[in-house]
Amino acid sequence: MTPVRIVEVGPRDGLQNEKQIVPTDTKLELIARLADAGLRDIEATSFVSPKRVPQMADHAQLMRRLPRRDGVSYPVLTPNLQGFEAALQAGAREVAVFASASEAFSQRNINCSVAESIERFEPLMAAAQCAGVRVRGYVSCVVGCPYEGNVAAQRVADVAARLADIGCHEISLGDTIGVGTPGSVLRMLEAVSARMSVDRLAGHFHDTYGMAVANVHAAYAFGLRVFDSSVSGLGGCPYAQGASGNVATEDLVHLLNGLGVDTGVDLDRLIDCSAWISSVLGREPFSRVARAVIAKRASS
Ligand code: HMG
Ligand code: MG
Repeated sequence: MTPVRIVEVGPRDGLQNEKQIVPTDTKLELIARLADAGLRDIEATSFVSPKRVPQMADHAQLMRRLPRRDGVSYPVLTPNLQGFEAALQAGAREVAVFASASEAFSQRNINCSVAESIERFEPLMAAAQCAGVRVRGYVSCVVGCPYEGNVAAQRVADVAARLADIGCHEISLGDTIGVGTPGSVLRMLEAVSARMSVDRLAGHFHDTYGMAVANVHAAYAFGLRVFDSSVSGLGGCPYAQGASGNVATEDLVHLLNGLGVDTGVDLDRLIDCSAWISSVLGREPFSRVARAVIAKRASS
């Protein structure tokens, strides 16, 4: 069976919304534990404005101290050329730009229209090409927007196609506020896949309504083989109030293990990592799988 590539976004999407600043050493330990559990794509941080997202202000220090391991890559978010140049200088070899299918979210999140955001990405794409850096593209609000409500699938397809046109090798489709269901996700995927091959698509499902695992399963059946997830189910976006974290990596791995799909992730080690970061943050893991396994371990 074709393996699934997991992009672990816990250190970035998972932590960006934490109110208490997490020390750089803790972030580095989290990343090392995720790599030990077998994660190979670990989104490490974002080169955004520290005034807007203070939790990511240590981006350059963190990048310089990342454990260099064969086969492990550490993509980072870069919203513009300024962020890209800082990321490159700090040693980034893979980056991601992020646009939105909703105008209102684009304005709140990155302070410009959707069209302006694509214009900002163009010099970044040129610089990335010169530097031999791969660029992933995110589309946010692929089902719903916290400010505009339902988002038309055609709008998502248009933005995804623009990102592919300017050179993004992969497009990650973000249900930022976790309102999607398999029905709405499949309608959106049909529209996007009419414009590009499913091989270039990744699913990024937040779990606000508890549908993230169902949405992954629907997208997997549709043909997607790349999924973003966050250890323990940490996360949310500072510009999407009330949205919860991503699908938990433990729940994603458990789902895929059950389908006989290889992910290369050691679920037991991942659950140890989940228990550890949750205790550091002073809470239980959000992952149902982690909670079930931890309870079972305690009773045996
Ligand atoms: P802006 O205000 O439009 O930028 O910010 P500007 O060009 O007018 O500059 C204003 C100030 O920001 C200047 O500093 C710049 O130097 C600085 P000042 O003169 O005031 O001291 N600046 C920067 N600083 C650091 N890094 C940069 C940078 N660019 C400008 N790259 C900007 C535009 C995008 C930077 C800002 O709006 C921002 O940082 N927004 C935060 C966006 C964010 O991180 N959101 C969360 C991540 S996206 C997400 O979670 C969704 C995703 O998970 C998928 C999904 O779930 O849907 C990916
Ligand atoms: Mg997200």
